[in-house]
Amino acid sequence: MNIIEIKNLSHRFADSTLGLENINLTIREGTFVIIAGQNGSGKTTLLKHLNGLLLPTAGTIRLAGRTVSENLVKARQMVGMVFQDADSQIVGETVCDDVAFGPENLCVDRNEVKRRVSKSLKIVGMLDFKDQKPHLLSGGEKRRLAIAGILAMEPKVLVFDEPFSSLDYPGVKQILKQIVSLHRSGHTIFVAAHDLEKVIAHADRLVIMKEGKVVKDGIPSQLLGELETFGIREPCASRLGMEVPSWLN
Ligand SMILES: Nc1ncnc2c1ncn2[C@@H]1O[C@H](COP(=O)(O)OP(=O)(O)O)[C@@H](O)[C@H]1O
Ligand SMILES: [Mg+2]
Repeated sequence: MNIIEIKNLSHRFADSTLGLENINLTIREGTFVIIAGQNGSGKTTLLKHLNGLLLPTAGTIRLAGRTVSENLVKARQMVGMVFQDADSQIVGETVCDDVAFGPENLCVDRNEVKRRVSKSLKIVGMLDFKDQKPHLLSGGEKRRLAIAGILAMEPKVLVFDEPFSSLDYPGVKQILKQIVSLHRSGHTIFVAAHDLEKVIAHADRLVIMKEGKVVKDGIPSQLLGELETFGIREPCASRLGMEVPSWLN
């Protein structure tokens, strides 16, 4: 099934900047997609259309067959977004409250909220932190908390915008492990990145953006040689003619 169908999507900001220009993209459910491109190429703008945080100024975007702009509540639930700045996503007094916030807002019943909170914290390995104050967590833990908050909404699609920025090596490995395991459990995954080294070994599809347009779209291993043309660093192994290894090994 095609979980996402984007047709002739353009987005012009209020100040008349053209953020996206005529994007066409069809994504099958369960695909691991990397959206790559230099800073300012339109990655975040595109991803914000997946759950209606931004609406197209031309064209359409469909999620599981339904137009996003006409089904905003459903789109917010189906597409979970983890942004770069995990701090700004924290809303609860405790880790537990924070994860409960999303499903409570959807008016999910109390026992079901509890079940989802435990399940989500368990998935990200943070059950032991449940009574902690979120602002005392490390950067990596905050990002895992943000992921748990999203999982509690039971989304089908998970979007990670620059998930590795400002994390240390163990932090990167932990988040990557989460992303890969969420993909294995059947979620459709989007990762926006300007540096592909850490994720490319796990992706099924690579979409390269430049100046608000999709300029390449294909199988990652077949596009590696062209990355530098678009201002994206080619992974070291690939430059040496080798297959890019997973960071999890
Ligand atoms: N709210 C906004 N108003 C006007 N221009 C914006 C706004 N948000 C982003 N842009 C512009 O849109 C372009 C794409 O930005 P963005 O999607 O954030 O790129 P990326 O995530 O690839 O770094 C940039 O030129 C950026 O300056
Ligand atoms: Mg961005």
